[in-house]
Amino acid sequence: MRHVKIDLGNQNIKHTENNARVYSTVHGIVRLNDTQIGDYSDALSGGVEALSPKDFIRVYDSVNSRHYKLYHVGDAALRQHGALLARQERGAGRYTADYAVPLILHVLQQYPDADGDYSLVLMFPPSNAMYVKDYVQAVKRSWKIGDGDSTRIINIKHVEVFMEGLGSIVNAIQGRLAPIKNDQHYLAIDIGSFTTDLVMSTAKGVFIPGMAHSLENYGINSVKERLQNSVRRQWKEAFKDASVLDDDEYLESILTNKTVNLRGRKTEDASAIVDDVCSDLINAVLNGVNQKFSRHVARIGGILLTGGGSTLMHTVLKERLDFSTIYLADERKSLFKANVRGAHYYYESLVRTGMVAV
Ligand SMILES: Nc1ncnc2c1ncn2[C@@H]1O[C@H](COP(=O)(O)OP(=O)(O)OP(=O)(O)O)[C@@H](O)[C@H]1O
Ligand SMILES: [Mg+2]
Repeated sequence: MRHVKIDLGNQNIKHTENNARVYSTVHGIVRLNDTQIGDYSDALSGGVEALSPKDFIRVYDSVNSRHYKLYHVGDAALRQHGALLARQERGAGRYTADYAVPLILHVLQQYPDADGDYSLVLMFPPSNAMYVKDYVQAVKRSWKIGDGDSTRIINIKHVEVFMEGLGSIVNAIQGRLAPIKNDQHYLAIDIGSFTTDLVMSTAKGVFIPGMAHSLENYGINSVKERLQNSVRRQWKEAFKDASVLDDDEYLESILTNKTVNLRGRKTEDASAIVDDVCSDLINAVLNGVNQKFSRHVARIGGILLTGGGSTLMHTVLKERLDFSTIYLADERKSLFKANVRGAHYYYESLVRTGMVAV
């Protein structure tokens, strides 16, 4: 039996078998129609270089069937069909059998010797808790899948579910990244690509029922876009041909230092721009904390920043959040992995206590 934990993020699917290595797969998928299937089969067998068999997945109707649906997946799907055509469903649309299952199977297909029995942990954001049952039912069975090259059988025998932000709290507790006091609560602020979630747990990482809040239209991508536009507008000449603004580390340095380093020129102050581009997201977080968690504020032992967005925004967030106990849920560069790492620890605890037979 193999054990894979999967965080199906809006932009990147984070997944791991043993926690030591967490992989990130671009979230992109296009179902191809019959004509396209023919075209792609011809192109693939003709060895067209731009197409790799690994960027396709065939999902057969059943283990004994010869009929399949063909999907173009991952980064290649986004490049080939454009971000609009390659559905990158946000929110509830992701949790339908037709959409999420081929993506999950694509993830499993990447593990070497992928045939055989699987036990999965599937993560879900708090806003989609109600769809999780359908999704689990859809995925739990035997599948025949193939890429452009070969077919294999995958039996999904067991599925656990775990909430995304909660994973980060568990990761921080396990890794002793925040001081843990038993009578205190912990609040994760998970800034993803397109969404931000707030989730509260006990010091043992147990979800406090009802204590989750999703900001579905606030994520790091819009902050990045506004930052890129503002900087380009302010320093037109310096950034005319520069691709440096596409680099996360460069953007992180602007957001952290509130300055812009122009090549061959002095460092310029960017504090007004930084405050402006971050304000919508930060205000939404502050409102969310006030509305949903105000009764618990006195009991918050720590705020845990997580999600890829926190890698870029942790300094500005710390500045604006009126708390003295703010921690990162993993190493700064690994914050996007924190949720799935927590799912790994959660699964291990189920195995240890005999709740899951391995
Ligand atoms: N080290 C990093 N690795 C990957 N992404 C990073 C990193 N640092 C910052 N980011 C940024 O974080 C964003 C992705 O974050 P994350 O993986 O948490 O989002 P997601 O889970 O796919 O989205 P959502 O939570 O909205 O579903 C990207 O915009 C990326 O630019
Ligand atoms: Mg996420």
